[in-house]
Amino acid sequence: MHCVRKVTDDLYWVGANDYRTELFENIHPIPEGVSYNSYVLLDEKTVLFDCVDWSVCRTFLENLAHVLKDRPLDYLVINHLEPDHAASIAEVLLRHPETTVISNEKGFMFMRQFGFDVDGRMDTVKEGDTRCFGKHTVTFLFAQMVHWPEAMVTFDTTNGVLFSADAFGSFGNLGGKLFDDEVNFDRDWIDNARRYFTNIVGKYGPFVQQLLAKAKTAPIKMFCPLHGPVWRTNLGYYIDKHDKWSRYIPEENGVMIVYASMYGNTESAAQALASRLCDRGITNVKVYDVSKTHVSYLVSEAFKYSHIILASVTYNLNIYPVMEDFLHHLKVLNLSKRVFGIIENGSWAIKSGTLMEQYIDENLKDCRIINSRVTINSSGNRSNEDEMDELADAIVKSVAEEEKVLEAGEKAVAEAAAQAEQKAALKKMSAKERMALRLAKRRAEQS
Ligand code: FEO
Repeated sequence: MHCVRKVTDDLYWVGANDYRTELFENIHPIPEGVSYNSYVLLDEKTVLFDCVDWSVCRTFLENLAHVLKDRPLDYLVINHLEPDHAASIAEVLLRHPETTVISNEKGFMFMRQFGFDVDGRMDTVKEGDTRCFGKHTVTFLFAQMVHWPEAMVTFDTTNGVLFSADAFGSFGNLGGKLFDDEVNFDRDWIDNARRYFTNIVGKYGPFVQQLLAKAKTAPIKMFCPLHGPVWRTNLGYYIDKHDKWSRYIPEENGVMIVYASMYGNTESAAQALASRLCDRGITNVKVYDVSKTHVSYLVSEAFKYSHIILASVTYNLNIYPVMEDFLHHLKVLNLSKRVFGIIENGSWAIKSGTLMEQYIDENLKDCRIINSRVTINSSGNRSNEDEMDELADAIVKSVAEEEKVLEAGEKAVAEAAAQAEQKAALKKMSAKERMALRLAKRRAEQS
């Protein structure tokens, strides 16, 4: 049975939701599922934009057949070759021998690597090339390393739709809805979106920034990503989130406490710190057991909060392995610009605090460690009370300082955006209009 949605007058969503896969990329839990989005344009020519994962191929093929009816499929545009989208290319091409595949050179290289036979039906595009399908003309913008080397996005210059590949995507199933204005994104989706971005694309922040800069030059009215809702109303909200995540700027000035505890003593210390912070008015605090929380959730929260407090027992004269794994993920995903605090524990040869500090210093860029470490010998006792108070006070102070840093950062970004807008407006003006503006400015300054 088909399951499609109309996106615009002549564009249809023919993707599918996947509730069955437990682990995305066989690593990240997706308890709320994921959607694989694919879109068909019915112009003078018919065009399919990307395919879906093998797990939902049957639904996808039914959807495609339903929308095409008896029409041939003239073109298949492949923006991204990762198999969660590309796995069903072969099935589409088997059913549609008439189809020409449009992709870039690296895209076709990956198609061959994955075993798709596209010889004799390739149309290779370069950055900025255009293709006209009748009423609609599209242009191709390369989105290298967002998050594979071949990734590109396709912009429909006729209606302002950006087929954005993995960019602006999210974990989570659509459940019949499609558009951002059909869901309460900030309440129901943002955690899935952040976890998707930070774990899948997080490492490639500078490349995301390049794509955002390119996106600014196009009059985009709609994002059609390969996962999650289609954005047609509140695009600025989602661009802002991606801008922060890709610059490694915390979304919130708050405190994430992550503890690694074997018998509950380090956990007690983490809870004691959390209550002290709340007592001091810092209530934006989240506490996580590193052994009980999948690391993809911890990574996502680390991107969200400004302060990360690590509380770890010493294990085999090292950092507790699960905590070390969390730190390794932060390193690999390039997390930076955070303030850290340290609580260490051990029954003999307490090493975890020094080792965690060393790990942060050596591997995480632009991070600061609060100079008030709490050292617990097996279990917290009265002698730890002062240390804990000191750490809590130092975090409160740092949160207040960070508020100013974040405000200044936001101001600088807003000013840079306004300047860029002014520059773009000036570019559009004629020489005469520019001269008139300069004269008016000079007069205003002189008066
Ligand atoms: Fe959704 Fe990079 O694949």
